[in-house]
Amino acid sequence: MKKLQVTTTYTQYESLDELDSEVQELMHIAIEARKKAYAPYSKFNVGAAILLDNNQIVTGNNQENAAFPSGMCAERVAIYSAGAKYPENNIQIIAISANSSKHKVTQPIAPCGACRQSISEYENKQKEPINIYFMGETGSVIKINSLKDLLPFGFDSSYL
Ligand code: THU
Repeated sequence: MKKLQVTTTYTQYESLDELDSEVQELMHIAIEARKKAYAPYSKFNVGAAILLDNNQIVTGNNQENAAFPSGMCAERVAIYSAGAKYPENNIQIIAISANSSKHKVTQPIAPCGACRQSISEYENKQKEPINIYFMGETGSVIKINSLKDLLPFGFDSSYL
């Protein structure tokens, strides 16, 4: 028997102002997408903006449904839209912002487990890491260099 450890690395920025202007701009696009989220049930709004290697930007926001499980997270709306529109292009960066009309969201909001799995599919497909930046409404921003840093022991096609 042996005990092993998995570690992860991330960068924390004090605020949006510390990011490169290109990423700041992408985050602002995610914030604009967030403002159009359809989240009447949770009141928790998420926006995502994806930068592709052809310089196109694809956005998404969460879409809720009275039949709760039929809704979809912002990250998956965005990534499936990118996959549908630009199947040949690699995803370079995903910027994510979340807020709530019930309370102030000041901590970075990481993608949920299902979104991590969905993003990992595209990272594996393109064989290039995807940089992910995520934040709340205000406050610090976290950057991870690869989805793998968020999803150790991921399930992929090599198991099939
Ligand atoms: N949500 C996202 O859009 N992304 C996540 O990674 C976590 C949660 C949405 C789903 C739902 O509409 C609301 O946030 C509350 O869970």
